[in-house]
Amino acid sequence: MSFSLLRASVARTAARSAAPRAASRALPRAAFRKYSTPPPASEAPKSSNTGLLIGVAGAILVGGGYFFFSSSSDATDAKSPIKAKINFVPTQEDYQKVYNKIAELLDEAGDYDDGSYGPVILRLAWHSSGTYDVETKTGGSNYATMRFEPESLHGANAGLDLARGVMEKIKVQFPWISYGDLWTLGGVAAVQEMAGPKIPWRAGRVDGYAEQATPDGRLPDATQGAAHLRAIFGRMGFNDQEIVALSGAHALGRCHANRSGFEGPWTFSPTTLTNDYFKLLFSESWVWKKWTGPKQLEDKKTKTLMMLPTDYVIIQDKSFKKFAKAYSDDNELFFKDFAAVVAKLFELGVPQFSSPEPWVMKTLDEQK
Ligand code: HEM
Repeated sequence: MSFSLLRASVARTAARSAAPRAASRALPRAAFRKYSTPPPASEAPKSSNTGLLIGVAGAILVGGGYFFFSSSSDATDAKSPIKAKINFVPTQEDYQKVYNKIAELLDEAGDYDDGSYGPVILRLAWHSSGTYDVETKTGGSNYATMRFEPESLHGANAGLDLARGVMEKIKVQFPWISYGDLWTLGGVAAVQEMAGPKIPWRAGRVDGYAEQATPDGRLPDATQGAAHLRAIFGRMGFNDQEIVALSGAHALGRCHANRSGFEGPWTFSPTTLTNDYFKLLFSESWVWKKWTGPKQLEDKKTKTLMMLPTDYVIIQDKSFKKFAKAYSDDNELFFKDFAAVVAKLFELGVPQFSSPEPWVMKTLDEQK
């Protein structure tokens, strides 16, 4: 679709919605919820800014329902058609259908890495949420601003274009879901389908604008120490116990030299969530790897596992170590705390939810 056609289509959308919108004002306030993202005053889409216009995914209330228009996760992709859905208020069942499709897709990874997209999808959900700043209330999972440059090009997000591409396959099947909801639901599916605990989840994120993207440097730098972890995660609103519980996610997946520069998996079962990350930190001898890449540790015995400097800090810092030991000794405790802290992470920066009570999505196995 050409830019002019696209603009005309958005204009028609707005015109069509004008009357029902007026009617909706007569409804009691609590009967509906505002899903649309108000453009920041100075950042409202301008007709000359086509990149911004097509990057916008919004929703306009229509009576009891609402009406979405959205673009692809790649804001520069001008070819994506605008999708519209009228009078549709998604229920938990609808989100479960999205969850199921994501869960199926995780296993369609073929030869990719360890045979699952789960770890990289979880990393996408975390990096889209972990930009939150508790003081300025900016960043977080709400606006899915990683769709936009330069955030998509931040060093920390290297490789996540792959995860966004995988999630785009789901987005085209469910055009009504916001990217923030889609990516965080992806994180929930990844954890649950990789044998992790249930992550309570709420819908209600809206898609934002390029101007809401966060500056570089909000995500942790793996070469740093305890003070850096406390500064970065403290800015998101997390304490020591939560930092340690979150770090347990590194039981999953691996580092890629062509993404972060680091290389290798943390555990022997990178597609199954367990407390092995903590167990291995304590049970193995960790030595600095001799190579030309960035400083990382390897296990002395097999030399096949790795730890980042920020992982090793978890057993060096006295306060972190106490929690790491507790999680190493008790998988149930780790799962309980991990579920709580990941649910909190995925909700950072979301001012309003469409489901007041968190939902617990069923795994594919539970639905057999
Ligand atoms: C403590 C601070 C953290 C640092 C410094 C850090 C750093 C990294 C780095 C360097 C990679 C390798 C990326 C690549 O080369 O592909 C990675 C991967 C990963 N991280 Fe973290 N991370 C942190 C916290 C977290 C948190 C809080 C989560 C989730 C709750 C998480 C989940 C993951 C997952 C699942 C992968 C594997 C991705 C894949 O296999 O493609 N990380 N992390």
